Amino acid sequence: RYFSSQLQSEQKRRSSFGIAFDIDGVLLRGKDPIGGSPQALRRLYGDSGNLNVPFLFLTNGGGIPESRRANELSELLGVKIIPSQVLQGHSSFKSLLKRYENQLIVATGKGEPAVVMSEYGFKKAVSLEEYASCFENIDPLAPYKMWTTKLGLDRSSPPLNTVPRYDVSSETVKAVFVISDPCRLGQGHSGVSPFHLVMLKLPAELGFNGFSAQLWKPAILYRLISLFDIQAAFPSNRLGTGAFRIALESVFNRIHYNPLEYVSFGKPNPFVFKNAEAMLKQLQPSYHSDYFKEPGDSGSQSFKTLYMIDDNPSVDVKGAQQAGHPWFSILTRTGVFRGKHNHAEFPADLVVDTVEEAVDYILGREC
Ligand code: G3P
Ligand code: MG
Repeated sequence: RYFSSQLQSEQKRRSSFGIAFDIDGVLLRGKDPIGGSPQALRRLYGDSGNLNVPFLFLTNGGGIPESRRANELSELLGVKIIPSQVLQGHSSFKSLLKRYENQLIVATGKGEPAVVMSEYGFKKAVSLEEYASCFENIDPLAPYKMWTTKLGLDRSSPPLNTVPRYDVSSETVKAVFVISDPCRLGQGHSGVSPFHLVMLKLPAELGFNGFSAQLWKPAILYRLISLFDIQAAFPSNRLGTGAFRIALESVFNRIHYNPLEYVSFGKPNPFVFKNAEAMLKQLQPSYHSDYFKEPGDSGSQSFKTLYMIDDNPSVDVKGAQQAGHPWFSILTRTGVFRGKHNHAEFPADLVVDTVEEAVDYILGREC
């Protein structure tokens, strides 16, 4: 009887809950932990360092492969994070591998977008810089763009000195993947350049196959749609890919007869929450001994509640709401949202000050 009651309580614990953490504005601002995040995460591990509560990071950020982000997060937050605990804005691009595996695709955004796509298995991923370097004088403003590096040195930008690994002149670009925030838009230079230059009429005039408007459906793959989606280290919200999409769309639609078509990935897309649920299920068995498994028991069972701890009502809370059961959103006041009461349009299930308070609430409710 002892074993069966222990088994029952183990199964109850295993099937009951999991947590998804937003990163920017909840756990970190820039590289600084906020809201007691290291302490909060430590409480999800047992004394032996094993994961006691399945949790993962559900962020719209990105730009580097999940394995590297896991190492970076481990260092910043002081707990051991594995790659399967990291779902970034671009992680769901993996689901498009079959379609684009052997096609020429352009990846853009901060970090190393082409490396990310190559790691996912896309065989012909080039960065925007690599692609643009095939066109001499593509950006007339390039000589005026002085970019300051960390060392305080100025260099002209964009860095077009990379040589594409594929013959981009004989192949048509089949899709553009916006992996992460556009650096050039953020730095206040000429907006969508050189991205819009690449996508416009130049390539055809130069004899490149380039991009073809008819082939774009749905060739632009975004990771989110919100305008103000970055909290980061600056005191007020920053513009991100949402703003970039609007700028790009306005220019494109003035030039082309057919409006720009694109697909948004990342939160608030309900697909992302389904994916997170599946990943959390996979994280369940890793901390249970075989002793508790019954024959045929894979260890993954449905959750009663999945908590999304976040800071952005129109992205995170909206996404959790749309995803429905078993999602429960907890909004913190450390990032995009700073309201005294709940958000009017996208009210969370609970509003707290910090992530530490959120974890406190969850553990008090569940354990
Ligand atoms: O680039 C947008 C990103 O900073 C948002 O991240 O963690 O709040 O989804 P997150
Ligand atoms: Mg956030």
